[in-house]
Amino acid sequence: MTDQSALKSVYPASAEFVAKAHVDAAGYEARYAASVKDPVAFWGEEAQRIDWIKPFTRVKDTSFAPGNISIKWFEDGLLNVSANCIDRHMLTRANQTAIIWEPDDPKEPAQHITYAQLLENTCRVANVLKAHGVTKGDRVVLYMPMIPEAAYAMLACTRIGAIHSVVFGGFSPDALANRVNDCEAKLVITADWAPRGGKKTGLKDNTDKAMLHCSDKVKVLVTKRTGDQTSWVEGRDFDLNAEMAAARPYCPYVEVGAEDPMFILYTSGSTGKPKGVVHTTGGYLVFASLTHQVTFDYHDGDVFWCTADVGWVTGHSYIVYGPLANGATTVMFEGVPTWPDAGRFWEVCAKHKVNQFYTAPTAIRSLMGLGAEWVEKHDLSSLKLLGSVGEPINPEAWSWYNTHVGKGKCPIVDTFWQTETGGHIITPIPGAIPQKPGSATKPFFGIRPEVLDAATGQVQTGTEAEGVLCLSDSWPGQMRTLWGDHQRFEEAYFSQYKGYYFTGDGCRRDADGYYWITGRVDDVINVSGHRMGTAEVESALVAHDAVAEAAVVGYPHDIKGQGIYAYVTLMKGVEPSDDLRKKLEAWVRHEIGPIAKPDLIQWAPGLPKTRSGKIMRRILRKIAENDFGSLGDTSTLADPAVVDDLIANRMNRG
Ligand code: PRX
Repeated sequence: MTDQSALKSVYPASAEFVAKAHVDAAGYEARYAASVKDPVAFWGEEAQRIDWIKPFTRVKDTSFAPGNISIKWFEDGLLNVSANCIDRHMLTRANQTAIIWEPDDPKEPAQHITYAQLLENTCRVANVLKAHGVTKGDRVVLYMPMIPEAAYAMLACTRIGAIHSVVFGGFSPDALANRVNDCEAKLVITADWAPRGGKKTGLKDNTDKAMLHCSDKVKVLVTKRTGDQTSWVEGRDFDLNAEMAAARPYCPYVEVGAEDPMFILYTSGSTGKPKGVVHTTGGYLVFASLTHQVTFDYHDGDVFWCTADVGWVTGHSYIVYGPLANGATTVMFEGVPTWPDAGRFWEVCAKHKVNQFYTAPTAIRSLMGLGAEWVEKHDLSSLKLLGSVGEPINPEAWSWYNTHVGKGKCPIVDTFWQTETGGHIITPIPGAIPQKPGSATKPFFGIRPEVLDAATGQVQTGTEAEGVLCLSDSWPGQMRTLWGDHQRFEEAYFSQYKGYYFTGDGCRRDADGYYWITGRVDDVINVSGHRMGTAEVESALVAHDAVAEAAVVGYPHDIKGQGIYAYVTLMKGVEPSDDLRKKLEAWVRHEIGPIAKPDLIQWAPGLPKTRSGKIMRRILRKIAENDFGSLGDTSTLADPAVVDDLIANRMNRG
């Protein structure tokens, strides 16, 4: 068993790291204070990091007032995103690699795409879009593998002022159709097939199925990835590669208003219908670019790798827009961490001499279960910094990441943010803020977090506080609305606590002013009147040597109100037994206290996850509640069979 007490509570960056860092402790304090004291002056200056075709005269015009939620930044400025991400680097970086593309199959060669090539390819796609009648403000849906064409297509949309909506390639045809219809897209860009983990998904087949539910005016541009056969609808389907080859290699960029929508990204809400989160142009780009540079301490010449998919906001901000706006070299990886073997991430790090590596705790935990020998095989000496995103990172995973991947010398930035926030909002600034494993630490510049009492909405004024995380003022990367439904935007984010943006997350602030995200408040369980973060119990469970992964939900309990239901995936080779169940109960009692002891533990060979690796807790809650007749939308499950097994072996049959 791993002794968590061996983990120190605070990890400052090394003196060597701090000496080279963009921001040190004094710099953070000064800039943070300035950013909240005078946001207009601060952001007016920070916005100069990007090129404006017409400079803005107004920096900030935002209101969180009930009934008048309105968010505008740099409103009268004009700019172009693709010009910022490509053209402006041409004088100095034309031959520098912009994108390193690493294919699914390591036997296939990687591609190094220079800024000059990125410009030409983006322009060609832009010209193809124009030829199909796409103009400023039109919506284009992208349903693509992790291939360079996805980045070309995103940038091409921004070049002509079209609004893209990237739909993750793991989504079902129904989900694709819903999104195409919701944003009334004029055109869909897809690929024939998407290879991933040695298997391939028929994206074009899925698109064909989706199109049955969409207007017949929607055109489909298809890029070739594998070249395997697909069906073809004459007059609707067009060959992107052939049209790119025939198109002119240059396309002028258009002037886009800072507050013109740049992209829509659908994300799950508490209700069934996905929410179309709208980000606009100027503020988003300033925020993505600044956070990329500061949080990851990115320096010219570094190779940056974010393992997300471009179908998620993480891929938007930290594979494409942040890095490219900064003239970075960004890695785009088509594959999965465990294929052809569990060393793939580390092989790619070694191969491309990655300097900053950014992934999700779920990936760390699954690799951890397969053994550190897969990491040790590869030369990771290029790594300077590690990042984590998507959920709280449990100390066990943090420690493994720190020891085996970072070799104890890389700061770990645990970045807290959301699709809605555009970029990091609470995160260690690595040269400035010592890390505490499991804490996202301190607010980014311009972010004003408040911890509110969940029930009363009272702002907690003491440094030590516990409650829900809200933000009291706007920042440039904030979403502006939900596509076509501003009222739902107000209701979803501003109605609970008047005058605040509500993140939906629970949070604790410690005596040092560090923020600890305790998980979505809908994941909080109340056991005998005590509030318990499911993440806390999970963290304790996975700290046990026998446990590879755990998910904890609440279920109705006659006496306690809610009981704790734990789904536990054991390490390879560990056999489930009643004895082990008792040991785990005792372990959690020991780690947190008797109140956290799971009432029910179900052995779960797998957990229901989306194809991006997020555990679908809604399903786990339903099964725990013995109410699995209405599981809701399961179309995004990576492996539906997992759910059948969990239902068959459920523990609560009352
Ligand atoms: O609950 C928080 C969790 O992920 C949610 C946002 O999810 P999504 O919009 O899909 O964006 C994920 C990538 C930015 C948040 O409300 N979350 C994200 N990062 C962290 C986190 N929870 C704790 N720590 C984090 N670092």
